Amino acid sequence: PLAGNWQGKRVLITAGPTREAIDPVRYLSNHSSGKMGFALAAAAAAAGAKVQLIAGPVALATPEGVERIDVQSAQQMHAAVMSHASSADVFIGCAAVADYRVAEVAEQKMKKTKQDELQLTLVKNPDIIADVAALQYQRPFTVGFAAETQDVARYAKDKLSRKKLDLICANDVANPAQGFNSEQNAIVAYWPGGELSLPLQPKTHLALAILQLIEQRLAQQQQL
Ligand code: PMT
Repeated sequence: PLAGNWQGKRVLITAGPTREAIDPVRYLSNHSSGKMGFALAAAAAAAGAKVQLIAGPVALATPEGVERIDVQSAQQMHAAVMSHASSADVFIGCAAVADYRVAEVAEQKMKKTKQDELQLTLVKNPDIIADVAALQYQRPFTVGFAAETQDVARYAKDKLSRKKLDLICANDVANPAQGFNSEQNAIVAYWPGGELSLPLQPKTHLALAILQLIEQRLAQQQQL
């Protein structure tokens, strides 16, 4: 059970994958199901928070009491997050945002040619969580995730400091029992000066443990 500290707190969460169009019928994406982010949204709303959930294309029902905004691409997710971030107390970036999008989206369905190779040019997408963490005015407490297949701790700590986050939840997504599109997950959370391991458990339970940790970190920060 969570303490009463979430009552009335405004929490902004991203979940799911993004889809980067190639042409009108094709896209680049990833295996995120949205389950981890939706579990966080449900748990925060049940604890009394005012939750806005910015969701990529997922096949999940909106948790009770949660305001949901659906988006497709990383650019759309970026715009939706930036227009709500300053009114949030806590931002949790759980979405698996595509780092790159196709430079020029074809207007018509691309035709197969005689060539055996086809090249797509990709350009970098905006880094949503880094932009939230860089807000100078009304910056929410910013929590990221790190999905890694190797050197999990090193890459996660690097993202924590490079993106200037308050907390990062690292998951080892090389293991199919956890991470993308599984019912369970395990994370190691890192913050400046500390870390906490949360073992494999249903994403619904893990969401509660992550919210408890956020609550503790927020309380610590406010004492400084
Ligand atoms: O959705 P599920 O199937 O339940 O799976 C959950 C999950 C594995 C997707 C989730 O636990 C998770 O790890 N989410 C983050 C996935 C990811 O894209 O990680 P990353 O290491 O590439 O990104 C690091 C952080 O930067 C993340 O908070 C991400 O939201 C953010 N980011 C990344 C790129 C970008 N352009 N903008 C961002 O904000």
